[in-house]
Amino acid sequence: MSHRVKLSSFWAVALAIVVLFGTGVATVRAQADQRAQWAKSKHSNRLRPTLEATADGRRGLTAAHCGRCHSEQGFLAWLPQMQKGNPGLITKPDGSPADIQFLVGLGLSRFSVRPQTCTTCHQSDFTLRQAGATPLLPAGFRAIGVGKGAQCMLCHNSRNGAIVWNQEDPRRYTAPHTASQADVIMGKNVFFVDYGNSFVSPHASFIGDSCVACHFQMSKAPHTFKAEVTVCSRCHGPEMNAARVQNPTKTLIHELEEALEAKIMASKDRIRSFRAWDAKVYAFIETVTLDPAAITSLVLVEVAGQQGVEFTITGGRKIQTQIGELRDAAGRPTFATSDPIVRAGWNFWLVEGDGSWGVHNPRFVRQVVLNSLDALR
Ligand code: HEC
Ligand code: HEC
Ligand code: HEC
Ligand code: HEC
Ligand code: HEC
Repeated sequence: MSHRVKLSSFWAVALAIVVLFGTGVATVRAQADQRAQWAKSKHSNRLRPTLEATADGRRGLTAAHCGRCHSEQGFLAWLPQMQKGNPGLITKPDGSPADIQFLVGLGLSRFSVRPQTCTTCHQSDFTLRQAGATPLLPAGFRAIGVGKGAQCMLCHNSRNGAIVWNQEDPRRYTAPHTASQADVIMGKNVFFVDYGNSFVSPHASFIGDSCVACHFQMSKAPHTFKAEVTVCSRCHGPEMNAARVQNPTKTLIHELEEALEAKIMASKDRIRSFRAWDAKVYAFIETVTLDPAAITSLVLVEVAGQQGVEFTITGGRKIQTQIGELRDAAGRPTFATSDPIVRAGWNFWLVEGDGSWGVHNPRFVRQVVLNSLDALR
């Protein structure tokens, strides 16, 4: 009997070793897959945090702003602060503003900064850090009832919550950040639409995990976070695909872009001088005075977080500046912040930056563009 017990405990231990070793191998293999997929996503891009999230790099103290979403270390320092109700810049534990030394101490330095790593989204047992609802976001709202997509919305929002929306004069020329997906899917933060809570996308509220449903659960390679354009058929049947929403929405968004360009071009006689921006040195380099007739064409660009334009001047030279830098003959701003161009411009950058061409919130994006076009007429 005791002999049998010993034998069976021997086999039990052996079996346990085999099972543990087996699951260990399986776990290691799965994590190798996750790592390989993650490495293909922009979340693994180390260059961006090196440029935008390091206190000893070109950003200095601004790393307390950009480092919140553009680095693992900044995000992990900021998340508990946001969960307590302060989505503002990273502070020290006592609530005072972070200084360079503190930020470098967190790891926001050129040698140690990390991008959006495993630890950024996951606790040590691989559950997500945030689910169900978000705290108040930098964009100025909470997203509630969005399942696991809450984790994504912590960073994928327009980051400009200070603006009081829908007022006649926004009193600034800010462009929303390209990370405007949460704003778009929750139907928020635009001008000319009385949105309230009535434009929340069914893709935020009625599919369980919002972002995570399309960009993870229904993806062939989940940790690349790529949503496939064929994902629609999983819920809508074989007839629905992304192009159905994206093609008409792209046409509308480009129409708004052209209307804005035409409207600025029509006022070009009131453009006499501006400071020219050099993207390479990331600074204004000179004040340009010009004969408006020399402006042959222009396109909209974003310049350091502000709405901007790139002029083509007779002879082919291209010069970038911010809308707020344009001056008339008397040295006054060519476009006041209350000009509908500024509000329609915000709306344009919000729906363009989102990058889904309407998929995230089809009805809302359509309404935003149509109302913006009306406001420019
Ligand atoms: C609230 C989170 C958040 C903050 C704060 C933030 N970003 Fe981002 N940023 C993102 C996300 C998310 C993306 C990716 C968006 C996408 O792919 O649509 C992004 C993309 C970018 C990009 C690449 C796309 C582009 O717009 O050209 C740049 C550059 C960038 N951010 C710079 C900055 C800088 C500089 C700051 C600080 C002034 C900053 N970000 C602050 C979340 C943030
Ligand atoms: C941008 C956020 C994000 C990052 C970065 C990330 N994950 Fe995940 N991960 C998720 C989401 C979302 C899920 C699905 C969670 C769920 O359904 O509960 C998940 C699920 C998992 C799971 C559970 C099994 C599975 O695949 O569904 C493991 C294990 C995991 N991740 C490991 C990793 C590892 C390892 C890394 C780094 C190489 C990583 N994750 C990076 C968001 C992330
Ligand atoms: C800690 C902040 C953060 C979180 C959390 C986060 N992201 Fe991102 N995401 C970023 C930044 C920053 C970029 C842009 C990186 C760059 O361009 O260098 C980005 C890029 C992306 C992109 C661009 C695509 C590409 O080609 O890789 C997608 C799609 C994306 N994120 C989806 C998600 C989803 C889905 C989640 C939730 C599971 C999520 N993100 C969570 C910060 C975040
Ligand atoms: C209904 C499915 C669905 C949901 C929900 C969803 N997306 Fe998307 N998303 C897409 C599709 C489809 C595209 C377009 C992909 C393409 O054109 O290749 C897209 C595009 C994007 C892009 C730009 C494309 C890229 O790869 O750079 C980002 C970033 C993104 N989504 C992030 C998010 C975030 C963050 C959320 C939640 C706030 C979200 N998505 C919710 C389906 C979805
Ligand atoms: C995970 C499930 C799911 C996926 C994937 C999905 N949808 Fe939806 N979608 C819904 C639900 C639920 C609704 C709300 C009920 C309805 O209108 O059928 C909806 C509504 C819509 C609407 C009506 C929009 C509105 O604002 O009223 C359109 C258009 C749409 N989806 C297009 C798409 C496209 C295009 C894709 C793929 C890129 C897609 N959906 C992917 C679940 C999904």
